[in-house]
Amino acid sequence: MLNVAILGCGIGGEHISGYAQLADRYRIAVICDTNQQLAQKYATTTGARATTDIDDVLADPGVDIVDICLPPSMHVPVAIRAVNAGKHAIVEKPLAGSLSDADRLVEAEIRSQQRVFPVFQYRYGRAFDQLRALRAAGLLGRPLAASIETHWSRDSDYYANPWRGTWERELGGAVLSHAIHAHDLLTQQFGPVADVSAMLTTRANPIETEDCAAISLRMVNGAVATSSITLGAATDTTRLRFVFAYLTAESGCAPYTPGQDQWQFIARETSVQSRVDEVVNNAPTAPEGFAGLFEAIADELEGREGREVTLAEGLASIELVSAIYQSDRSGEQVTLPVDRMLPIAASLRA
Ligand SMILES: NC(=O)c1ccc[n+]([C@@H]2O[C@H](COP(=O)([O-])OP(=O)(O)OC[C@H]3O[C@@H](n4cnc5c(N)ncnc54)[C@H](O)[C@@H]3O)[C@@H](O)[C@H]2O)c1
Repeated sequence: MLNVAILGCGIGGEHISGYAQLADRYRIAVICDTNQQLAQKYATTTGARATTDIDDVLADPGVDIVDICLPPSMHVPVAIRAVNAGKHAIVEKPLAGSLSDADRLVEAEIRSQQRVFPVFQYRYGRAFDQLRALRAAGLLGRPLAASIETHWSRDSDYYANPWRGTWERELGGAVLSHAIHAHDLLTQQFGPVADVSAMLTTRANPIETEDCAAISLRMVNGAVATSSITLGAATDTTRLRFVFAYLTAESGCAPYTPGQDQWQFIARETSVQSRVDEVVNNAPTAPEGFAGLFEAIADELEGREGREVTLAEGLASIELVSAIYQSDRSGEQVTLPVDRMLPIAASLRA
């Protein structure tokens, strides 16, 4: 049984629902939020202890894992304090606000011998299990082209939360905070990125950071992809279309759970479609969303082969964000790997 403390009760509330699906693996020991009423509300429903003080959590010998659901600028400093206190850390996206800060997490993980797990819960869903099964059956073929859309609606109510839309506390805009999930899914399916060209702009809300972007990506294997991002759409939709040599996979529009949505898997050769349908229908099922991520982390910590998000993958997500900002700022195509000291926040631009 792993004893977990939740820090921050915004999205932390959804993490709590994820742990609740894994009651034989996790016990929620502490809920921490500076909003005492909020902490108490979740403590009451989970049987955990409530506190408003992060130091109190880090000093608690009954806590094995600290799950950091705090505003972005707190992720790296709190994660480093957590591993130094002998706890594993689960870190909400974005992992860090720069590659050099993400590197500090790697150093802290090695020094402390605790683990740091980035959060990309979109990976855990039936459609991605189906794609894995199709790949294993040799039915995908090589990646050719992909298009991904993160078209969400965020308004003044959303930005009333004072850390949002600021370089200092959100650390970036829609590329760092919102489309980071879709970009992670792209690299899961198509492999690492070789180079990017990007245009970023702020058009939907009066904020410091970008809220629209058009990005072209070439993958190391030669496939190409486009990513369209806006936080000024009428509704919230995420759409993913992966074209492989033998099959095209297309998501529905579910914004925050694309893997749990109904996908279409269309074989290029119609004679193969029945085999594709059979593999899709028989793909193994597993917990989805946060429960899927937390199950993978528990497997990893208990020495079974886990499908957790590795810290190296978290770093790669931040490196891609760095490259995207650099391309927009320079007006040039940027090849990865990038300079590890490259800033993301505009206020830190050289
Ligand atoms: N994985 C996802 O799909 C997903 C979705 C939403 C948000 N997020 C990420 O989760 C993080 C939190 O976002 P949110 O929308 O929940 O923010 P939020 O502002 O709604 O919630 C953060 C909570 O942290 C608390 N808090 C702030 N400082 C604290 C401190 N020093 N000690 C204890 N509690 C403190 C606040 O009171 C608040 O309740 C962000 O990094 C965001 O990008 C991820």
